[in-house]
Amino acid sequence: MTAGPCGGFVAFARLWAPRVEQALQELLPPATVPPARLHEAMRYALFPGGKRLRPMLALLGAGATGGDPAAVLRAAASLEVLHTYSLVHDDLPCMDDDDLRRGRPTCHKVHGEALALLAGDGLLTLAFEGVAGAGGAAVAELARAAGSLGMVGGQVEDLAAEGDAGHHTLERVQWIHDHKTGALITASLLVGAHAAAPAGRPVPAAVLDPLRAYGDRLGRAFQIADDCLDLTGSAAELGKNPLADVALGKLTWPALVGLPQSLATARGLAAEAAELAPRVVAAAAAWRGIDGALLDGAGRLLQDAAFYAVERRN
Ligand code: IPE
Ligand code: IPE
Ligand code: MG
Ligand code: MG
Ligand code: MG
Repeated sequence: MTAGPCGGFVAFARLWAPRVEQALQELLPPATVPPARLHEAMRYALFPGGKRLRPMLALLGAGATGGDPAAVLRAAASLEVLHTYSLVHDDLPCMDDDDLRRGRPTCHKVHGEALALLAGDGLLTLAFEGVAGAGGAAVAELARAAGSLGMVGGQVEDLAAEGDAGHHTLERVQWIHDHKTGALITASLLVGAHAAAPAGRPVPAAVLDPLRAYGDRLGRAFQIADDCLDLTGSAAELGKNPLADVALGKLTWPALVGLPQSLATARGLAAEAAELAPRVVAAAAAWRGIDGALLDGAGRLLQDAAFYAVERRN
């Protein structure tokens, strides 16, 4: 991670990383619990892990809505568990057929396809156990974002667009990005907000709506950056094989408009997200009945996270 306009978020993520790791360790069954081969495969995919962006966004979602990030660590870890399942399946030969992830051979390369498939299933299911304590609104948000109307639907269309170059449009790639990536990014923020809400006081739409709008832009910026990094990053930086999208004929943002325009679009989306941050915290302060100035720092973290999504090098 680099410093710069996103330095506040980078410092936040560094500060919270050990507690996120601890929450993940507590959520995962020990590798020795039967069936040990399955739990080893689940842990292989999760540890040492990647950027842990989604749990960090859940912590930000809690903080920006006036809640205590420390109180939502288990829910935050659940987002990472679900995300990691999506990566394990994404890498399978029947999908993106990748052999490098998070700087190591992909789960199916080490544990075999059947076990990687089932490790993904185990991670997906475990994520819902982990988020259950955050309440029904959080569970419903996560289910919607992860399922056929969200991430899974996006993955289906991502695969369908491969090699279908005659029908590649910006509308199509944006739909795919919103679903395969944006849905879970937005859900991470919202689950954090739900998980931190006081008992009997559900988060109102006045707070959720700007947070969702922020997340949607962040998600778009993040996936455009991912598409760009496929072209500009090295395997050492990314921990995954560069030029994988090119090899598969994927519908990506830079494939349609080129790299400079893609980066400009991603930066524009990050700026739009950053502009929404003060609205999120103002609505949250009004809902909680607290002085808005108390959430200024949390608002700045949201802004930094938006820029981080684009400026990151992995
Ligand atoms: C990769 O996600 C898959 C996408 C949605 C682009 P990340 O870039 O967050 O991967 P990790 O979690 O850091 O490995
Ligand atoms: C994956 O998008 C989105 C997921 C739901 C996992 P990509 O296929 O572009 O992610 P990477 O580049 O393999 O990490
Ligand atoms: Mg993919
Ligand atoms: Mg992939
Ligand atoms: Mg990619």
